[in-house]
Amino acid sequence: MNARLIDGKKHAASLRAQLAAQVDALAARGIHPGLAVIIVGDHPASRAYVRNKLAACAETGVRSTKIELAEQVTQRALLDEIAALNHNPAVHGILVQLPLPAHIDAQAVLEAIAPSKDVDGFHASSAGALLQGRPGFVPCTPAGVMYLLAQEGIALAGQHAVVLGRSNVVGKPLALLLLQNDATVTICHSRTKDLATEARRADILIAAVGRAGLVRAEMVKPGACVIDVGINRNAAGQLVGDVDFDAVCQVAGSITPVPGGVGPMTVAMLVANTLRAAQA
Ligand code: GUN
Repeated sequence: MNARLIDGKKHAASLRAQLAAQVDALAARGIHPGLAVIIVGDHPASRAYVRNKLAACAETGVRSTKIELAEQVTQRALLDEIAALNHNPAVHGILVQLPLPAHIDAQAVLEAIAPSKDVDGFHASSAGALLQGRPGFVPCTPAGVMYLLAQEGIALAGQHAVVLGRSNVVGKPLALLLLQNDATVTICHSRTKDLATEARRADILIAAVGRAGLVRAEMVKPGACVIDVGINRNAAGQLVGDVDFDAVCQVAGSITPVPGGVGPMTVAMLVANTLRAAQA
């Protein structure tokens, strides 16, 4: 292995420790940051993500509530839950775990969350603020990637960042953050003509597609920083990213593993956003 390993687990633990100290300081002033998490149905991956989020809250002293709703819940009932949380002063942050069942309009649900409690950063007003470079909640995974790049001293100004994937959750907000930090940004997607050529131009390559083995060694510029946001299961049932890790390690300058890279940072950033919501 040539590439330096970017240890997201270590960075996330260190950030959680700092956040716990800030939560303590806030509690001393009588403010107890609170997060409400709504989970609908019985999606095993969602259950695991929510478990991790609640564990991070417990570790940092953030008070959390889990609201479990049946797969068949009506959109009206879900919106009523959100309205109640919007009015609850003990709840500073509200997160609705995605995906939602097909009979529910996910965007309508996300828009029902008060922007001041939108710790996932998925409300249109949060997305608009990010687009315009105004203060607002930044989605947790892109925020976590930016935190890792900063902590690792990866220069962005004038560098070519290539983002594979154009989702509202990762690709688009991350491209905007990289742009704000003066990178030259290319966004690639399923209709990109020559993905390998585009990827190979990257000083910073971000893979956020959700396809195991997508990024092969020949798609990586020697010395590039490779950030793997993918979470997939391989044929053996193991958790893998979008990057062919063993092969890309021989070429990249630095790389995040899966698991233990971006994932723990996403969870830590949720705590950071909740703390910010409580401080507002
Ligand atoms: N599902 C997968 N990732 C996320 C996330 O970051 N937030 C929410 N709410 N749901 C998700």
